[in-house]
Amino acid sequence: MKGPEGVWAVVLAAGSGRRAGRAKQFARAGGHSLLFHACRPFLPFVEGLVVVLPPGGIAARRGREEELRSAGWKPTLRVVEGGATRHASCRAGLAALQASCRWVLVHDAARPFVSVGLVTRVLEAAAAHGAAVPAIGVKDAVLEVEDPGKAAGSPRARRYLDRPILRAVQTPQGFSKKVLEEAFAAAGDDDAPDEGSVVLAAGFPVHLVEGEESNWKITTAAELERAAQRLEEGSA
Ligand code: CTP
Ligand code: MG
Repeated sequence: MKGPEGVWAVVLAAGSGRRAGRAKQFARAGGHSLLFHACRPFLPFVEGLVVVLPPGGIAARRGREEELRSAGWKPTLRVVEGGATRHASCRAGLAALQASCRWVLVHDAARPFVSVGLVTRVLEAAAAHGAAVPAIGVKDAVLEVEDPGKAAGSPRARRYLDRPILRAVQTPQGFSKKVLEEAFAAAGDDDAPDEGSVVLAAGFPVHLVEGEESNWKITTAAELERAAQRLEEGSA
C-alpha cells in the first residue's frame, strides 16, 4: 500500500443519470462497468472501499457487488444505498467507514478516467492540509444569467465572470476523516456541489491540486458514448 495508512475511498454511484438518459455508471465498456473503471485506480492506496449504489433492486445490487468482488480486490468492500441527492449519497457512504479510517477520498463513478497519479497527488495534499480538491482552469468565457429556470427561450446575460479567478472542480477529493465528519455534521440536508464546498462552508481551508483534463465527468448520452469508445480502445 502506498502513502498514509487508514485510507478509504467512497465512490458515489447512486445517481439516475437523468441527463444521459440512463444510469451511466453501469454502462459497460472494455469488459467492465464504468463504476469498475472508476474504482480501480484507488486500489493501491486504500484499506477499504465504500460503493454507494441506487436504492432498491437487490438483484441488480448483487450483480454490481459481484463484479467488484470477483476482481479479487484486496481492500474491504462495503456497498451501501444512496439517497435522493449526491450529498445524501455521500452522507450514507461516510456512515459506512470503518473506525480505522483516517483519510477519505470521495469520487464520482461518472469519472472513470481518474489516474493513479491524480489519486496520489490528492492524497498527499489531503494528508498535508486536511482537505484537498483537484481543479483545472476554465477555457471558455463564463457568464451569469438572469433567470436560469426559465422554461422557454434563452435566459438573458447578466454579467461575465473573471475567468482567471475561476476553476472547474473535479473528484477525487481528499480529506482527513475528522474534518469531513465535522463539516458534514455542521451541514444541512440541502444538496451541495461537492464535499469541498461542504468543508469550505464549515470554515476549513481547502487546498487545490491541479486536476487533469482527461479526468472529465460523463454527463450526456454523447459523452457516455465517447467514454465507452475510449475505454474499449484502451482495453484492446
Ligand atoms: N450521485 C449519487 N447520488 C445521487 C446523485 C448523484 O451517488 N443522488 C453520483 C452519480 O452516480 C455520479 C456523481 O454523483 O457518479 C455525479 O453526479 P452526476 O454526474 O450529476 O450524475 P447523475 O446525478 O446520475 O446525473 P444527472 O444529474 O444527469 O441525473
Ligand atoms: Mg446529478
